[in-house]
Amino acid sequence: MIFQIQILKDHFNMKKLPKTYSNILLKNGYLIINSENYGSIEWIKNLIIKTIKKNVKKFDGELNNLHKFVSIKKLNKIRMSVYNTINKNTELKKKYFSVCNNVIDELVGNELAIQKKINISFQLPKDNSSLLSLHSDVWSGDSPYEIVVWIPMVDVYRTKSMYILPQNKYSKFLNTLKKLKNKSSNQLYKKLKNDFIWLNLKFGQILIFNQTLPHGNVINEEKTSRISLNCRFKGLFTPYGTKTLGDFFEPFSMKVISKIGTNYKLPKL
Ligand SMILES: [Fe+2]
Repeated sequence: MIFQIQILKDHFNMKKLPKTYSNILLKNGYLIINSENYGSIEWIKNLIIKTIKKNVKKFDGELNNLHKFVSIKKLNKIRMSVYNTINKNTELKKKYFSVCNNVIDELVGNELAIQKKINISFQLPKDNSSLLSLHSDVWSGDSPYEIVVWIPMVDVYRTKSMYILPQNKYSKFLNTLKKLKNKSSNQLYKKLKNDFIWLNLKFGQILIFNQTLPHGNVINEEKTSRISLNCRFKGLFTPYGTKTLGDFFEPFSMKVISKIGTNYKLPKL
């Protein structure tokens, strides 16, 4: 309880705090950083292009143009195929982590669990089949001890991106939720529409956000396609939601005494 009170105090006194990643996350609910390793982000992009090319014969290799080569009807089948193929690559998680290694170390720690499979989203212009309406990940099995690392493979802006409710609007969200009779995502979205922040990122930038905050996307009304990846990191020994270790998460980094402790079996004395 004392710990919780301290977090809130820090949050409201942000002006006095140094601008560390932790303080920015507490204040805003998200961070946008430049990749710590541009080579890795290029490597990930090339892996995706190569994999799409195997599935979509005429694809020209420009991810912004994906809608010109893939029909919305075939989109999910291709997405699943790309998802499965890229996740078979044993380097992917290491490369993913290397783009935000220092930030994760500060925000989460150095004994980590990572999602077993990295998600990939395709948002083609005018496609309404792969939308994520207003939600928080903790409403569907994630724990509040997780952070999302979201990496766009193209420049994203306006409806081609995603929105998030900033931390300073969260109490307004809770009050709105209390008052609403029809507690649907759409109703909540309409009520809070002006409070969301649309996140603009250039390729090479990374979004890290607190997934307890409501977020989502809308139909991509821009002219080009969005391809993005997302993956959750959490402290290996922090509480899990219904997405458990072994099922949804796997250990990513572990200190030696944790390995010893995890493998230890008390002998029968
Ligand atoms: Fe989400």
